[in-house]
Order: sequence, then structure tokens, then C-alpha cells
Amino acid sequence: MQTKDQRTALEQAARKRIKDSHALDGDAGRLAEFYRGWASAYELEVGRDEYCGPVIVAELAGAVQTAYLARERPAIPILDAGSGTGLVGVQLDRLGFRTIDGLDLSEEMAEKARQTQVYRHIRAGVDLNGPLSGYPSASYYITVCCGVFTLGHVRPDALRELARVTRPNGFVIVSTRKSYADATCFEDEVRHLQDEGVLVPAQCLNDGRYIAEEGAHYWVFRVPEKASAPAEHRL
Ligand SMILES: C[S@@+](CC[C@H](N)C(=O)[O-])C[C@H]1O[C@@H](n2cnc3c(N)ncnc32)[C@H](O)[C@@H]1O
Repeated sequence: MQTKDQRTALEQAARKRIKDSHALDGDAGRLAEFYRGWASAYELEVGRDEYCGPVIVAELAGAVQTAYLARERPAIPILDAGSGTGLVGVQLDRLGFRTIDGLDLSEEMAEKARQTQVYRHIRAGVDLNGPLSGYPSASYYITVCCGVFTLGHVRPDALRELARVTRPNGFVIVSTRKSYADATCFEDEVRHLQDEGVLVPAQCLNDGRYIAEEGAHYWVFRVPEKASAPAEHRL
């Protein structure tokens, strides 16, 4: 049982870490080093900052499965991109998903996620700002990414690779902190990718709860069916 002083100290620590993380300029080396140092305290600290992104992202995945996908949840391959310590995976597992892969830049965060035992496979050392080599196109029915489209981490154009690894008529679900969406002109990138036929915005929860200090937008994108896609790649 934490005292009020301990809770306040954890909240302040979380806010300082989050602020520091926003200054990392998307530099893979600095991000990996930063999260190496945060892995052991991450859940305790963000938990005190009322972090509810993972619950919302997982529940959106549950909703699109129920609304649109013929397969049952346990058999739906999901990629959790920037899986961190596994908070999203745990929520997906709670909702009945059983075929969850994770990837992250940080080995220490990924090791925490492995310990949850809800992932089929976790790969560390993967930079979402570059090509997801080793991930074939159209591998996943749903790709989720929570808490990663945030200042100093991943650029909006990382959406392109998330869409590539997702099957036609599958879904990409991401959170964007409000400040990030404004500063990066995220919506312009969405329009650009839509014009190119890479993805289609299907739903957006605007300014939802995220952490205590700021809300986020929660995006659901559908990957369009390509005319040339072989039949077995269609859902
Ligand atoms: C704020 S945490 C979010 C983790 C988890 N999704 C959650 O909601 O708790 C951000 C995670 O993204 C990872 N990350 C940051 N930049 C990345 C990048 N360029 N490529 C891959 N992972 C990255 C970090 O290592 C960290 O685990």
C-alpha cells in the first residue's frame, strides 16, 4: 500500500520521464538507452499517471474484430508495434486474443513483455522509423500501436509500414497524443497515405482519455483491398 507522498512522487517521476522522452528526436540509440533505464519502473510510474491508452486501443481491436472479421479472436494474428512492457498485450489477452506478436526498439522493455507470457513472439531492436525488414507484407489482421506516435519517438510516416504488414481489409489502430498530432500535422500524413491508397481512416475517437496531463486521438484505419492481391490474401 503506497502512501499519498509515495503516489505523488511516482506521478511526478512519470511526468518527468515522459517530458524527457519527448526530447529524444526519434534517435534510435537515445530512445533505446532511455527505455533501458525506464523498463523496471515504467508500469509503476505510468500507472500512477492514469495511463489508459492500452485499454482503449485493445478494446478498439475487440470492436473491429466483432464488427468486421470472420475469424474468432484466438486465431487472429495481431502485431503490437512498440509493445513496451506488454500493457496492450495483456489487455488483448483479457479480451480473448491469443495470437499476439510484439516488437520494440528496447530489449529491456521487450523482456518485460515476454515475462507477461501473453505474446506468441517478441522481437527487440526493431525501429519503427525504418522498414520493418523481417516482417512480410499482409501478415497481420490487426496492427496496434499505443503510446508510440508521440513526440520524440516515431514519425507519422511510420504508418506506411504498419499498413504494409497488415492484410487487405485488416486494421491499423494507433493512439496519437494531442500535442503530437498537432505538432507533426499527423492528419496531413493520413490524407497523403489515403490518396496513395495505403490506408483509409475508418473511425477516430477524438480527444479521448489517455494520461492525466493530456488526452489522445485514437485512430482506426482500414487497409484497402488491392485489386492485384491474390485471393488468399483477402479476409
Ligand atoms: C511510451 S512506451 C509505450 C509502450 C506500450 N505500447 C504501452 O502503451 O505501454 C513507448 C515504447 O515505444 C518504444 N519505441 C520508441 N521509439 C521506437 C521506435 N522508433 N521503434 C520501435 N519502438 C520504439 C519504446 O522502446 C517503448 O517501449
